[in-house]
Amino acid sequence: MAETPSAAVRSVRFEPPAIDMPETGTGSAGDERTLPGSFGLSDGFQDVGRRRLAGGLAGGWGGRRSGSIPGGPSAPVEEGPASLPECSLKADSQPEKDQKGVAHMATLEVRELKNRYSRTGPEVLKGISFNVEADDFFAIIGPSGAGKSTLIRCINRLVEPSGGDVILNGANITRMGGRELRRARRNMGMIFQEFNLVERMSVMDNVLSGRLGYVGNFRSLLRMYPKSDVQKALELLERVGLGEFVDNRADELSGGQRQRVGIARALMQNPKLLLVDEPTSSLDPKIAREVMGMIKKMSEEAGVPVLCNIHDVQLALEFASKVIGLQDGIKKFEGPTGDVDKSTLDEIYAMEVL
Ligand SMILES: Nc1ncnc2c1ncn2[C@@H]1O[C@H](COP(=O)(O)OP(=O)(O)OP(=O)(O)O)[C@@H](O)[C@H]1O
Ligand SMILES: [Mg+2]
Repeated sequence: MAETPSAAVRSVRFEPPAIDMPETGTGSAGDERTLPGSFGLSDGFQDVGRRRLAGGLAGGWGGRRSGSIPGGPSAPVEEGPASLPECSLKADSQPEKDQKGVAHMATLEVRELKNRYSRTGPEVLKGISFNVEADDFFAIIGPSGAGKSTLIRCINRLVEPSGGDVILNGANITRMGGRELRRARRNMGMIFQEFNLVERMSVMDNVLSGRLGYVGNFRSLLRMYPKSDVQKALELLERVGLGEFVDNRADELSGGQRQRVGIARALMQNPKLLLVDEPTSSLDPKIAREVMGMIKKMSEEAGVPVLCNIHDVQLALEFASKVIGLQDGIKKFEGPTGDVDKSTLDEIYAMEVL
């Protein structure tokens, strides 16, 4: 029997997850320990493959590691300068000024961002615009397939946008190529759903791989990092509660611990922005909450804004300060977490299907 035209297109409502509307910004912080004052490091490079720290880390770092150092997922490799400053950001971090000479407040400006994965394929992002300010923690929510991961990946150009602009601290990422793009990417730390650790490497080496974009191929292959990097990695591991695990292999850790390594690795980059893609999907609810609390605490302490894709609306509302709702590549909502109510979620999670 022929289908009637009116039945060919129908509107189907997907109920958003049932949630209790929480207070905003109440993320629980994880353990915070005091870092021992000095590890006895002197200036210069530290070969983390052969030496032990004077501070007495039992076991050292070199013994149980195997495999070569691959490129860190969030820090593309490039040759660094002969002497390595803590962070070699240059003029590309200067904010743009308007006609009156007033600096823009936004750390990140996303303008009319579009994507299609192939020339003839469907448009996945259909012109998304928003600004991220220095103290924002954005949750990006929306149904599966809405384009959340694509949006995050277009911002650091792991996926190529087909239109629009991404401007980080005044520098237009979308117009960069080669070395300039690799340098700009160092400013964007990424935290992944599946952690993307190198399982057979130590926790310490995984965290240090966040510096690969700074130290260059040669030194990273020899596992030679500036001692200031080693000290920073230790400090970060203490702060995420993994001070006892620096020498463990990544595959010896639980999921929540692995994600803490991922957080420390992302912050090793000294990022100006944290891009986070479903950080809790592989974790049970209790650990998921701890990990979100850790991301919030660490990003606040580092003064780094966060863009976080997250399926779990309850967690999004609990930890984020602002929300973007995506549906089918379109921004359906943007606003403070406190403005999200049931009708907002109904609209974000309503979909038309053929
Ligand atoms: N590499 C790819 N090639 C072609 N199409 C892709 C690719 N990656 C994603 N897509 C398509 O782009 C659309 C958006 O996908 P995306 O992964 O960004 O959605 P999402 O909102 O992150 O979904 P989820 O919540 O399930 O992670 C989907 O239709 C998906 O099939
Ligand atoms: Mg996704």
